[in-house]
Amino acid sequence: MKLSKKVTAMAMAAMMVFSMTACGNDSAAKPDATATGGNAQTPETKAATEAATQAATEAATQAATQAEETTAAGGNIGVCIYKFDDAFMTTYRNALQEILEGKGYTVTFMDGKNDQAEQNNQINNFIAQKVDALIINPVMTSAADQIIDTVKNADIPTVLINREPTAEQMSAYDKLVYVGCDARQSGTMQGELILDTPNKGDINGDGKISYIMIQGDPENVDAQYRTEFSVKALKDAGMEVEELDLQRGDWDRNKGQEIAQNDLAKFGDEIEVVFCNNDDMAIGALQAIQAAGRKVNEDIYLVGVDALDAALNEVANGNMTGTVLNDAKGQAAGAVEAMEALLGGKTYASGEQSIYVDYVKVTPENVADFQ
Ligand code: BGC
Repeated sequence: MKLSKKVTAMAMAAMMVFSMTACGNDSAAKPDATATGGNAQTPETKAATEAATQAATEAATQAATQAEETTAAGGNIGVCIYKFDDAFMTTYRNALQEILEGKGYTVTFMDGKNDQAEQNNQINNFIAQKVDALIINPVMTSAADQIIDTVKNADIPTVLINREPTAEQMSAYDKLVYVGCDARQSGTMQGELILDTPNKGDINGDGKISYIMIQGDPENVDAQYRTEFSVKALKDAGMEVEELDLQRGDWDRNKGQEIAQNDLAKFGDEIEVVFCNNDDMAIGALQAIQAAGRKVNEDIYLVGVDALDAALNEVANGNMTGTVLNDAKGQAAGAVEAMEALLGGKTYASGEQSIYVDYVKVTPENVADFQ
């Protein structure tokens, strides 16, 4: 807001100088035209007027150039995050802030508090404030139609992040891009991390991999795909699998801890693998595993997704079998790049509105590269 006010003020100042100059020109020209009316200027006043006109024109040009530069280097960006209290989205938010502010944008972040109605208000407020662009991490993917409709009606270039709508939903607006990752890839990599262990996840040698699945918010496609594709990778490799439990932990560390604790009490040594859709839940599960006297990579395997700092430490210490880098910095950079393309006037054809950043497997062997 501050910035656009500044730009407007400068443009206004330039216009005022400009119109003052134009008036000056008028009165400078008039004497000649009205010379017969006996209202002619002396040569001295004419020279003085001309000098004043030139100075004013220069000042106006300078102000206009300055205003242009300010517009090009900055702008007001509204960012809506589904909830601030999410470990991965905190890393992502920090990366966005660093990149956007580094480029001279004025950025306002809003906490959706996991409430779609609250986020809708925040989007409407940003629109009323006439932000130049929006970056939105929707609370509910199911609200995508409504969000897209709103930003389209307001004609605001928008980048959606982290929670992917369908290509069909996005095709409603050509100044809309999604930047994220293909969650199928992260699920497959989690399965591969288990297949890469010495006994391919079958610790007790009974011919099947017995696992529990701690799922994120199932409304979110990342949770659906990671759940499906981690197990699919095991089956595709010819392994038999047994699902002991599947429960939603809503991406939350405490819920991850509770679910793992209950399952460990219920299934004991039967559990060979703990799949967590993200690292925060895996850190919670690790607390329960350690409290139950179990030892990761010896009598149980544990994998997550995100490569949060805490998880990288546990992978390095041997307390997590592995994780998958969900590249917050790469996605933030991609989101800003797409936003700038939109601000530059680019539009996106249907089917070309999703931009993906690759996931990367993290194991004890390569963890140092990510720390
Ligand atoms: C991340 C989770 C995060 C979720 C939020 C996922 O991609 O892996 O850690 O909670 O996004 O939508």
